Amino acid sequence: MNAYQARCDHLLRSPKTWLVTGVAGFIGSNLLERLLNLGQYVVGLDNFATGHRRNLDEVHASVSPEAWSRFHFIEGDIRDLQTCQIAMQAGGVRGPRDEANPTIDYVLHQAAIGSVPRSIKDPLFTNANNIDGFLNMLVAARDAKVKRFVYAASSSTYGDHPGLPKVEDTIGKPLSPYAITKYVNELYADVFAKTYGTSYVGLRYFNVFGKRQDPEGAYAAVIPKWVAAMIGRDDVFINGDGTTSRDFCFVENAVQANILAATTDAEDAVNQVYNVAVGDRTTLNELYGLIRELLEIRQVRVKQEKPFYREFRTGDVLHSQADISKARRLLGYAPQFNVRQGLDSALDWYVTFVRQQPSST
Ligand SMILES: NC(=O)c1ccc[n+]([C@@H]2O[C@H](COP(=O)([O-])OP(=O)(O)OC[C@H]3O[C@@H](n4cnc5c(N)ncnc54)[C@H](O)[C@@H]3O)[C@@H](O)[C@H]2O)c1
Repeated sequence: MNAYQARCDHLLRSPKTWLVTGVAGFIGSNLLERLLNLGQYVVGLDNFATGHRRNLDEVHASVSPEAWSRFHFIEGDIRDLQTCQIAMQAGGVRGPRDEANPTIDYVLHQAAIGSVPRSIKDPLFTNANNIDGFLNMLVAARDAKVKRFVYAASSSTYGDHPGLPKVEDTIGKPLSPYAITKYVNELYADVFAKTYGTSYVGLRYFNVFGKRQDPEGAYAAVIPKWVAAMIGRDDVFINGDGTTSRDFCFVENAVQANILAATTDAEDAVNQVYNVAVGDRTTLNELYGLIRELLEIRQVRVKQEKPFYREFRTGDVLHSQADISKARRLLGYAPQFNVRQGLDSALDWYVTFVRQQPSST
């Protein structure tokens, strides 16, 4: 049995209370679904800035009524300290709590304004959510004495450092306001550990993808955007010549990393940041070919013959690939899906979602 399976079995036998921020978002809603299926009690916090009620509805429909009864949702904003404090009290969720442990056990902090281009357009908004909001969450977690504060860091922290694969302790200068905010998160978490003893783990996600990743809007990520476009609603554009590469990480791998990070007892594994990816590199041209092939296998007609190439996007890095040996060694992380397996698993969701949307023409 691997470390993840063992930890899941333990949680099933001994449920805990979790706070997932950004729970109506892509990664947050996948965390929620897994935790409820593992018999856990979950408080979710979201202000629907970029998340959707439909994501919560989908989780509701996919889990048993008993599992859903272990979830309590708070619509609120992490930019408000009191909201973060209320969420930490776990009111509304009848969890396995006793007097010695009246609050949240584990925080999985996902709420943030993602997207590099959005942060370039509106750095104040990104900063307020990703730094002020993050600090509120840290203060509230410290005061509630949670067992672990796990938060979504980002591969954007590697910035302009050209080295590949990316190793946690070698970073460059940030290339966008978003990247700055994610790096500041790491600095704050570390200072809170040293100053107040708050136990944390930062997870540097590398291009996570999977069901419920928003295909819509100007700031959609590449995979959902392309699938939506390829099955007929829009043109597919590749920024640059298509040789740009990424370590695309299926969301189930990120869920695994969160659960391992929250529940580890190993002292040397906490107060650390980890790369969360697969350790592979896929170029945008390869990704296009892969999605196309998997759509064709499903007999989904792909409208456009070839993608259009356009300017490389400011603030993006050219290549990204993670060294995941630190997470393997200290957390027992073992990604279960490579990019092809992840796409194969997520594609039906994307296709169904796109087909349910009213036509834009
Ligand atoms: N998806 C990726 O590839 C990726 C890569 C690196 C890091 N991350 C980080 O992972 C986290 C989750 O990303 P995601 O892809 O699920 O994005 P998402 O936009 O789907 O989810 C973010 C959620 O946070 C909520 N939120 C934003 N500001 C809030 C606020 N002030 N108060 C309460 N809720 C708020 C949004 O409404 C949304 O539901 C983010 O912190 C993001 O920066 C994601």
